[in-house]
Amino acid sequence: MSGVLTLPAPLDPHVHLRDLAWAHKGTFTSETAAALAGGYWAVLDMPNTPPPTVDPQALATKLAALTAGALCDWGVYFGASQDDNTACYPQVARQVCGLKMYNNATTGTLLLADQAAREAHFRAWPGGRVIAVHAEGQTVADILALVRLTRKHTHFCHISTAEEIALLRAAKADGLPVSVGVTPHHLFLTERDVTTLGALGRMKPELKTAADQAALWEAIADGTVDVVESDHAPHTLDEKRGDPPPSGVPGLETTLPLLLTAVREGRLSLERMIALVTTNPRRIFGLQAPPETYTEIDLDASYVISREGLHTACGWSPFEGMRVWGRVRRVIIRGQTAFADGRVCVSPGFGHNLFAEGI
Ligand code: DOR
Ligand code: ZN
Repeated sequence: MSGVLTLPAPLDPHVHLRDLAWAHKGTFTSETAAALAGGYWAVLDMPNTPPPTVDPQALATKLAALTAGALCDWGVYFGASQDDNTACYPQVARQVCGLKMYNNATTGTLLLADQAAREAHFRAWPGGRVIAVHAEGQTVADILALVRLTRKHTHFCHISTAEEIALLRAAKADGLPVSVGVTPHHLFLTERDVTTLGALGRMKPELKTAADQAALWEAIADGTVDVVESDHAPHTLDEKRGDPPPSGVPGLETTLPLLLTAVREGRLSLERMIALVTTNPRRIFGLQAPPETYTEIDLDASYVISREGLHTACGWSPFEGMRVWGRVRRVIIRGQTAFADGRVCVSPGFGHNLFAEGI
């Protein structure tokens, strides 16, 4: 593998761009700059930043701020709230990429622990837009029961264990409408790295064993895994030094180089890698690549991941010190150079909402 690789419109369907009440962790402009630097055309933003995106007013606030600030194309998730917000689903569904349901505790206040409440949200969400779930361990089985009942397309975010993979492989064999995402941190780090990383290795789901990690790579090879999603979740270094530290790690600027390094090492085919970050995420969310939208990556460039030159406002990475192959040279969006050789070339507001009403 050498020369320049052209990737058609890479999409990261799972990021936390922050801004709003958490602008100190990152802003729509700083984190979409990180997306461009990472080689992405577009990102889909999660609803757990305060004020959580769980009512039409919070959604309108977020859409306005992203419209003004985004450097790359984008969509947002609506959040399922424990204070039943299902009545507004028909109204909001056409403006968002999907519904996010948190079924295990994580950063922020959103959590649906009650199976009957989860079922009400599943039934209320209109068909045609994805339901993305945070589900770990036994909760994966609980959510699969709802998929069986409602037949709504459900994307299982950041799957991290061999046991969860086995459940989802069987669900796919049964023909259930499910898709599966894994993160680069679960692919390239294990629980042993927490010893050296400390709080910088803390996220939800947590890092797992080497056996779990091997199961994720096998599931990539056999097609059980559909997408690699960064779960980019910046927190400041100061916050990470706190007790307890918040969960979450940045990932937008390191995902594509890490995957290309795995391709170079023969752990992943190039075809599969391209599917995981372009065609599969676009298919799941019903998106077409805009014309003249692609990313050029220099496959012969090698470097050690460091804090220097990161665009994310948090300014650190859990992958610091790892040598990778593949440097993002240019990101072209709708015929315009959005990023070239380390620099953002477009202004805030350049990015389009991919789920603007009426599309
Ligand atoms: O580690 C995590 N951080 N997991 C999540 O599910 C949320 C995220 C965040 O928003 O910080
Ligand atoms: Zn997340």
